[in-house]
Amino acid sequence: MAASDNIPTHIAVIMDGNGRWARRRALPRHAGHRSGVGSVRKIVELAAEKGVKYLTLFAFSSENWARPREEVSKLMSLFFEALQREVEELHRNNVRLEFIGAREQLQTGLIEKIAAAEAQTAGNTGLRLIVAVAYGGRWDIVRATQSLAGKVAAGELDVRDIDDEAIAAELQLTGVPDPDLLVRTGGEQRISNFLLWNLAYAELYFCDTLWPDFGDKDFDDALAFYAVRQRRYGHTGDQVGAVN
Ligand code: FPP
Repeated sequence: MAASDNIPTHIAVIMDGNGRWARRRALPRHAGHRSGVGSVRKIVELAAEKGVKYLTLFAFSSENWARPREEVSKLMSLFFEALQREVEELHRNNVRLEFIGAREQLQTGLIEKIAAAEAQTAGNTGLRLIVAVAYGGRWDIVRATQSLAGKVAAGELDVRDIDDEAIAAELQLTGVPDPDLLVRTGGEQRISNFLLWNLAYAELYFCDTLWPDFGDKDFDDALAFYAVRQRRYGHTGDQVGAVN
């Protein structure tokens, strides 16, 4: 198999750098977020084109609620507008759109839009686009733990049956294979409470490009980085038959 054929099944993305992109242009931060929507459109197209099966985007973290009220409110309006504008085209392109995170924390209008978009695209068989909003990796694990503890307390589950699989089944990405590749733009090299459990064996790709500037070349560079990785999952190189 050529290295270029080694496409990740699942790519997770931390879209960072919108604020800096705006500041460099003396624009308000929300102008950066607005411009970032264009990069979302772009990466969805590129991922679908390359045959990526799952694309999970970190759009708003549990911690982002602490940003200035005006920025939070503008971001929420942007999500609403983007749904309003983009869902038809995603649907035409056979994309299945899903959301993870504490959606009950969002405004009713947005919750309804999300539910409608999920219902409309539920039968689509192409790219699964998963958007994390009001999401935190620790929140996800806490919820899973509460659910398992509840089942134990109710006598439905034996403590000894709590294993990796049982925990994964309670997480937001249940049924979705773990990300193979994490891409983070904006120059920082951290996971920032994204999919803490699911990223256990992901290859980590960091680039300096600010999210609104993310384009074909950045995507190709990330795929090229991934294509030559040797994934060992704790085994030795010899065990996995490595050539590089
Ligand atoms: C991080 O940049 C970005 C965000 C918190 C928001 C991401 C949202 C979008 C790209 C909008 C569209 C999303 C969808 C799914 C329609 P930052 O503000 O932390 O940038 P900085 O580090 O330069 O300040």
